[in-house]
Amino acid sequence: MKTSPSLLAADFINLGKEIEMINSSEADMLHLDVMDGVFVPNISFGFPVLEKVARVCTKPLDVHMMTVEPEKWIGHVKKLGAEIMNVHQEACLHLYSTVQHIHESGMKAGVTLCPATPVETLTDIIADLDLVLVMSVEPGFGGQPFINHSLEKVRRLKQLRDNSGSKALIEVDGGVNPTTGAMLAEAGADILVAGSYVFSSADPHAAIRTLRSLS
Ligand code: DX5
Ligand code: ZN
Repeated sequence: MKTSPSLLAADFINLGKEIEMINSSEADMLHLDVMDGVFVPNISFGFPVLEKVARVCTKPLDVHMMTVEPEKWIGHVKKLGAEIMNVHQEACLHLYSTVQHIHESGMKAGVTLCPATPVETLTDIIADLDLVLVMSVEPGFGGQPFINHSLEKVRRLKQLRDNSGSKALIEVDGGVNPTTGAMLAEAGADILVAGSYVFSSADPHAAIRTLRSLS
């Protein structure tokens, strides 16, 4: 199982130390949550902070855009050197074009689904995606309880992906801990995002290892 710790739960006073912890961990990626206070009722951090983070982080960056019109930010995300740019299905009027533009810029394209958005909305685009990010909480805040229905969703998404011959990875975000993570692994998830579980742990390296050991 791959693991992408979410910086949202980090201690921002000690951001440099938190990135060092990630660099020296077995984390596969670093998950960065960008919020605009419009698409979600919260604001996290913006590009001036992310540029500094990107400069010191040695892990691939997994950027989760929780903004309206995420296509406007493709150039900024590319400039960070991000590996993956995730945009919300609900925020993109012309999702096909947005995915194409992300690919043209040289990044992998991920599409994110809010809890109430069915996986079937991706039927006609899944073959073009590198990743689908399933929200297992409403986007906008860390520390929320896992929505159990997400397990069923991951199972259906895996079926949709396998039937279409798509190579898209299935990433899940929200309320992930070893218990929900084990169920998600069984349901077919490929990557787990975890904020609170990793950064609130007394031993974040061990927490990352625990998630990575799930299969
Ligand atoms: C929520 C973010 C998540 C968040 C997860 O909108 O997309 O990435 O950091 O936090 P936890 O793991 O605490 O649920
Ligand atoms: Zn996220």
